[in-house]
Formats: sequence, structure tokens, C-alpha cells
Amino acid sequence: MLKGKHILLGVTGGIAAYKSAELIRLFIKTGCSVKVIMTRHATEFITPLTLQTLSGNPVFMDMFSLIRDHDIAHIALAEEADVLVIAPATANIIGKMAAGLADDLLTTVALATKAPVLICPAMNTNMYENAIVRENMRKLASRGCHIMAAGEGELACKTEGSGRLPDLQDILDEVQSLLTEKDLAGKRILVTAGPTREPFDPVRFITNYSSGKMGYALAIVARRRGAAVTLISGPTVLPVPSGVDFIPVSSALEMREAVMQHLKTADMVIKSAAVADFRPSTRADDKIKKKSGPLTLTLERNPDILAEIGKKKEGRILIGFAMESEDLVENAKAKLMKKNLDLIVANDVKQSGAGFQTDTNIVKILDRAGGIEELPLMDKMEVAGRILDRAKQLFK
Ligand code: CTP
Repeated sequence: MLKGKHILLGVTGGIAAYKSAELIRLFIKTGCSVKVIMTRHATEFITPLTLQTLSGNPVFMDMFSLIRDHDIAHIALAEEADVLVIAPATANIIGKMAAGLADDLLTTVALATKAPVLICPAMNTNMYENAIVRENMRKLASRGCHIMAAGEGELACKTEGSGRLPDLQDILDEVQSLLTEKDLAGKRILVTAGPTREPFDPVRFITNYSSGKMGYALAIVARRRGAAVTLISGPTVLPVPSGVDFIPVSSALEMREAVMQHLKTADMVIKSAAVADFRPSTRADDKIKKKSGPLTLTLERNPDILAEIGKKKEGRILIGFAMESEDLVENAKAKLMKKNLDLIVANDVKQSGAGFQTDTNIVKILDRAGGIEELPLMDKMEVAGRILDRAKQLFK
């Protein structure tokens, strides 16, 4: 989603400057171009050569050599940028920007650019909590700068607290969010994701192969597009997406309860979770010991959460998923009508590149009027975007 965008990265002089190398790699992977401005102090922590090699562009440091050696004005850098990210941002750069100073290339460009500015602070905890630094950040925020909260944990100065550079993935998410049109602003979307676990003793459960990737992609993209997102998730290994209301659950019954609790305020529900249809009828209090002969488990039906909310839609838009291994379209159509959905996203588990665990999916989006939109093999983030495009039309 950052393909073709121009990111201008300002690197200032803190120990976290070394992380800017990895941040550039993350940016470049999305297909955008990255140009770097370093302050003089930043070059004490990481070399321009490293950042030049990773970004594939010359690194800019000095206003006058910029004009002399590259024949471009600082204004050109400011104008070309789709976003200016300052990571790490020291207390010094934050103070200078808040005061409106322009005494080096980075501060000058920061004043001259009309692009959104994202400040990612990194400094010692006492500095981060210092009243003047707080005041400077508030001042910049009130003038339209976007300021991320610093991360918490162990700092380079061996203290524990806040002041770490925000997680690099969160910085990338924030940049993507800043550059995404807020076409779902004002909408409240409830997404379910992942598998459920149905225990039959304290250490064992029945589950399925769902990774949660499709549901998390939907939550991330919907949030970037301005929706208020609640993500109810079964157990997964995925990082909790930033900016969403995250509700972890385990069993289908817990998921049902969480969905019912949050249903009232939702304008749309997207049920991408792979809910276990059955649960063991009993759960032993102690670990079941093996005995000679087979163990028989009796399973009982779990509630069909989607069918239940389909019965009392109250104007909500409902989107379900259908995972099939045969008669994909017929089965998906039947689920769409039976569960009273607006759209159903169908995929064939037997197709390679589709379904559980993969980063890609091949889906068909079916609507109530009989329309079928067939999407080719796509990254799950892109699939999420296409599903939300269709969902947006339903709001009209
Ligand atoms: N679903 C649900 N609660 C369940 C089972 C499924 O809410 N107990 C939802 C899923 O989140 C998905 C949709 O229903 O959006 C379809 O799930 P799927 O397992 O493909 O269909 P089932 O209705 O369970 O039908 P079957 O297992 O017979 O194919």
C-alpha cells in the first residue's frame, strides 16, 4: 500500500539510530522509495554509508552541500515527500521543532514540508517524562504533527521504563495509516479471527489450522481506513495490531459471548474466525491418563455465532467466510442465504496459496443478488482491502 510513495526519513542522534537501518528495509519491502536526512549527531551512531546502501539513495546531511553536490534545493526534498518520518526523534529535535527553529537540513525541511510529519521519540526515560519535552510534544501535536508514544522496556542506559523507539512494525503501520484515505471513518467494525480451542482436559484441546492472518489483515486495513475496529481473536501467534480494541478469547463459547457483548455498537461484523463446530461434551478436571484401549470423546455442537447474529441483524452489515473443499460456490451461496449475510467470502482449501496459514488467499466474493467477484491469488492484506471496498458500497 506504500508502493510508489516517497518516504523522507529523518534520523537524529540517539542510540536507537541503528534501528533506522532496519526501518529502511521494512519501508523498502513495501515498494516505496526512501530518502534519508541525518543530523550531524546521528552520524556518530550509524554511518551514512549504511543508510545510503539500504535506501539506495544518497543520504543528505548538510543544507549547503545538498545544493552544491546534488543540485537540489532543500525545498525539493520537502515537496517530494509524501510523509516525513523522524525516527529516532531525540528530545533535542522535538525541542527545536517545537520552537520553530531551522538551523540544519532536517529542521528546515520539517518546517518547509506540507506532508504529514510522524515523530517517533526515543530517549532516556527521565528525558521522555520531563515536563518541557512533554510540553514540546503537545505543542507539536496541536500543530498537526503525529507523535507516537515511545515504547517501554529496557533502555540503552540500563534503566527500565518508557523512552524506547516505538516498535518498527508499529511505525510502518502508522505510516501506512497516515497515507491511507479514511473512507471508513465513523464506522464501527467487529472482526473475529483465528481458531477456537475446545478443551477436554486441562492440557488438551481440539482446534483447527487457522492462523488468524486473514482476520488480522481485515482489522489492520479497516483501522487504517479510519474505522473503529474491535478484533475478537482466538489464540494465534500474530502480534496484536496497534490501534484496535483487542479481545482475546479461546473457545467458541467465549467467542460467542464476546461477540454478543460488542454487537450492539457495531455497524458491520466480519466473521473470519474458524469457529470449531463441535466441543467435547465434558472437560475433565485432571489430565486424562492413558489406559489400555481407545479413548472415546463425545462431541456436542457449538452455537453458530454467525447464524445467530444473522437472525437479529438490526441494520448491521454481516460478512461471513466459507471454507470449502468441494462445490465451493454452491456451498457458499447456501451459507450466505441460510445465515442471512450481505456478503460471503469463499475459498477452496484445496487450492495452493489459499486458506489457512498462508500469507496469500484466492477468494470469491458472493453477494445476495447472485454476483460473484473472483479475485486472483493475492496477499491477504490486499484481499482485505478488496473485501472492505465491497463492504463500503453496502454502507451506501
Ligand atoms: N461460524 C460461526 N460459528 C460457528 C461456525 C461458523 O460464526 N460455530 C462462521 C464462521 O466464522 C464463518 C462462517 O460461519 O464466517 C462459515 O463457517 P464454515 O465453518 O465454513 O461453515 P459452517 O456453517 O460451519 O458449515 P460447514 O462446517 O458445514 O461447512
